[in-house]
Amino acid sequence: MTNIHMGDGIDSNFYVDLEYADFVQTQMKTVTERGRAAVKQAIEKANRRDQLKLIDEMIVEEFGQKVLSRRYSMKEAAEMVGVSTETIRNAEKDGRLPEPEYRADTKSKQRLGYTIDQVNYMRDVFGTRPVKPEGMNAIVIGILNQKGGSTKSTTVVHMSHYLAIKGYRVLVVDLDAQGTTSFSYGKLPNIQVEYWETVAPYLLREDDDDEDGTSYSTLDYAIQNTHWGNVDIIPCAKDYLEVDMNMAKNWSSERPVDMIMQLRKGLLQVGVNYDFIIIDGAPSLSVNTMNTVSACDTVFTPVPAQMFDLASTVEFSDLIDKLIETYKSHRIPVFENQRIVGYKDMPFMPNLPSFYHFITRYSKSDYSKAMETRIRQIFTTEVTKVLKNEIYRSDEIGKSSNQVKSVYEINPGADTNNRGKLKSDIEMLDNAFEEMLDIVVDEHWK
Ligand SMILES: Nc1ncnc2c1ncn2[C@@H]1O[C@H](COP(=O)(O)OP(=O)(O)OP(=O)(O)O)[C@@H](O)[C@H]1O
Ligand SMILES: [Mg+2]
Repeated sequence: MTNIHMGDGIDSNFYVDLEYADFVQTQMKTVTERGRAAVKQAIEKANRRDQLKLIDEMIVEEFGQKVLSRRYSMKEAAEMVGVSTETIRNAEKDGRLPEPEYRADTKSKQRLGYTIDQVNYMRDVFGTRPVKPEGMNAIVIGILNQKGGSTKSTTVVHMSHYLAIKGYRVLVVDLDAQGTTSFSYGKLPNIQVEYWETVAPYLLREDDDDEDGTSYSTLDYAIQNTHWGNVDIIPCAKDYLEVDMNMAKNWSSERPVDMIMQLRKGLLQVGVNYDFIIIDGAPSLSVNTMNTVSACDTVFTPVPAQMFDLASTVEFSDLIDKLIETYKSHRIPVFENQRIVGYKDMPFMPNLPSFYHFITRYSKSDYSKAMETRIRQIFTTEVTKVLKNEIYRSDEIGKSSNQVKSVYEINPGADTNNRGKLKSDIEMLDNAFEEMLDIVVDEHWK
């Protein structure tokens, strides 16, 4: 610490002298210069062909152009499609299906395996692809908990892959300015994704069409393809935070119910092209929380089997309570000749979803089991239920997330040296997602 000499009457709790500030500044410059030099060196080393490559470009190159390399064997494909291997072979022979691709690295003729897009093509050919019932909306599922790090994004990514593997058409909606889920789908927040690509302009009703004619009156502008043929995404980036600031401002000037229902309206409109819409919510409380909660048909809240996480998750229930209270306290204007002549109670509430919790980061330890009992006691009521299946703490999920992949994207054998563990973890997730799928289908499509 340098010797700080403060003049008389200056409180050193709040001020430092100019000399010291100069000193700090020079140190910061040193760090910046050293840091930049190190980064530059690393870039040059990594890519001698193009020494001026920017780090953003390098990241985009590594993570921003994702391909799905997972291939399914003939047996797996047949099971997924719901026909026999014989039926597939025959269709490949008689031209209903394209000729199979073969491996280049084996002497005998071995099938390369099928991509999920090829499996879905087969489903279309054989008429076995699942679709939502005629006349029904896409089901809007929210994975919400204001507790940070409670596995929301991991759940959203894995659930979307699970549903895509089943053949459903899925729209993932990232509403977290951190953009973790967007990143998993190769849409790099703040590098490739900015304000105009997020839900923000639609929510804030940016009325003017863009110079290039883009309209923000529906969410169509925000939908992007992904490396999964049947998954699209509306990505997010830090600019999305503007929604919170501006919505709060608009709160008094706009009709609140319209504002709250804006997201649901937009999602159901674009939902004609999808079976499921899955929302990744932000770990924050905001005006926007109302839009998010009321946009959903069903909310699944992850509860990690740890006391601190449980404590924060309980506050999510309080948040829903407060949200309903806010809805109740809103009075709507009475119009006469287009002028407000008074206010009355709302005759209805904005949409409320059904609420479920599921236990995550679970293990076989006594502590985990004790936490499970508590969680089930606390969160089981007439309107909130706890799912039967737990999601276990999994090294495979951790390892695959290091590669910015879900466990469903890993090729067993090629990408992992722990095939058995990968298989059992996928089964564990399949069970949890199957339970969620059954619930939402029962509630909303029957
Ligand atoms: N079942 C699991 N077992 C082990 N690790 C997991 C599991 N699920 C998620 N993780 C890891 O936990 C970390 C936090 O997960 P995630 O980012 O999904 O949480 P989040 O709720 O979306 O966080 P935030 O509130 O910051 O958005 C990640 O590193 C993820 O890989
Ligand atoms: Mg997240």
